[in-house]
Amino acid sequence: MNEGIEQLIEALNFSPDNIPLRLHLAELMIKGFMLDDAALQYQEILNRSYGNDKARKGLANVYIKQKKYSAAILVFEALLADNVLKGEELVPYVKCLIKENSQNEAVEIYKKVLQQCPGFKDEEIDGVLRMPSTAKRTNIDDDYEDELDDMFGVGDFEGDGRADFFMEKPDLKFEDVGGMKKVKNEISLKIIQPLKNPDLYKAFGKKTGGGILLYGPPGCGKTYLAKATAGEIDAKFINIGLHDILDMWMGNSEKNLHEIFAQARENQPCVLFFDEVDAIGASRSDLKGSSMRHVINQFLAEMDGVENSNEGILILAATNAPWSVDSAFRRPGRFDRVVFVAPPDIEGRTEILNQYLKEKPTEKIDITAVAKVTEEYSGADLKAVVDIATEYKLEESLAKGAIEKLTTKDLLKAAKQHKNTTAEWFSTARNYALYANETGLYNDILDYLKIKK
Ligand SMILES: Nc1ncnc2c1ncn2[C@@H]1O[C@H](COP(=O)(O)OP(=O)(O)OP(=O)(O)O)[C@@H](O)[C@H]1O
Ligand SMILES: [Mg+2]
Repeated sequence: MNEGIEQLIEALNFSPDNIPLRLHLAELMIKGFMLDDAALQYQEILNRSYGNDKARKGLANVYIKQKKYSAAILVFEALLADNVLKGEELVPYVKCLIKENSQNEAVEIYKKVLQQCPGFKDEEIDGVLRMPSTAKRTNIDDDYEDELDDMFGVGDFEGDGRADFFMEKPDLKFEDVGGMKKVKNEISLKIIQPLKNPDLYKAFGKKTGGGILLYGPPGCGKTYLAKATAGEIDAKFINIGLHDILDMWMGNSEKNLHEIFAQARENQPCVLFFDEVDAIGASRSDLKGSSMRHVINQFLAEMDGVENSNEGILILAATNAPWSVDSAFRRPGRFDRVVFVAPPDIEGRTEILNQYLKEKPTEKIDITAVAKVTEEYSGADLKAVVDIATEYKLEESLAKGAIEKLTTKDLLKAAKQHKNTTAEWFSTARNYALYANETGLYNDILDYLKIKK
């Protein structure tokens, strides 16, 4: 056990009522992934100091990490009723509601966030709550529609009643994505080149079509890369947090799926990106007889292009949990390439760091030194390191009234402060790679972990 934690526990034996100390202990436990212990500490605080806000917020945070969303919602509800949740503190609450399929409540709470923090944006939430433009074409209840209209002004439909809702045209290019040479190459060969040179592929009798499933730890650029793929070929980009639509309008989801594919076909070239695809491909066997099964079959039929050709559409999907994706998704013509998006290697880290430092005032930076101490850091982690270092300098600059430039030392210090967030994922992934790797699907994970096959 972490020494600090042990000391705090000992100290608390002597003064069990020291609430700040116990709060601190619980926080350390969260950092050390001792979630159950942290929850116990928060409960202990609540026993001693009834309704303690910080303990309740901490508890909600633990529940979220444990994926006990409904428990977290109960805590948030109480906090909200007591008027102690403000602004962005409500964001995790919204996300929990979304996870629990309480879309209407999510909208309610999200409205409060937007009221208190005008201009607030959150890709994940907007991705879900903007979806109702699809639903608009189906039969959700009118009040809800109006609410969403008010919120997002989604009234901008074209004549045929179709909205170009979540369609983007990203400016991102492959060069903006650091590292990932192999993955970019794979995407290029498998889906970009066939799109650009269809005749060539035909001449060689190569079948085109199908998609790529990207998987890997959080923050390593799956979503980012999908977007850059669209930017790279100047295509439109449709980003779908699939499980969200599906859960949102159970009865209508088949139609929604069909319309999404139809939109993509009308707007080619188009990258159709299914984020968190495990959510749909997951438990097909658990879903026997449920309407979700139809949805999945519909998805597979659309993907196969049974009724309509998918020419001109690039289909990408991403997941943190490839082991949860039904194998039917991986059949030829579907997601028949499964590509591991690993944390960047030293070269990749150098590129990413350089990229994020490009627009900052810096001294001459020893990037290699920083890249060396950030092994297993995700792209998002590296961005965080640069952000933290920038904050140090901003503070100093403000104090001095002159621009202080970023140094290697700042970055090294920031890297110490921000630890990598990929370890937890690998501890799960390693088990699948070791014990559920019959088809060699996870060999890339073994390679990354330097485990002999
Ligand atoms: N290779 C990279 N080059 C530049 N920036 C990166 C890279 N990887 C990640 N980032 C930064 O980290 C952010 C998060 O990455 P992204 O959302 O694509 O991760 P992800 O793999 O989709 O994670 P999750 O599994 O949590 O969805 C990006 O918006 C980008 O700012
Ligand atoms: Mg993502």
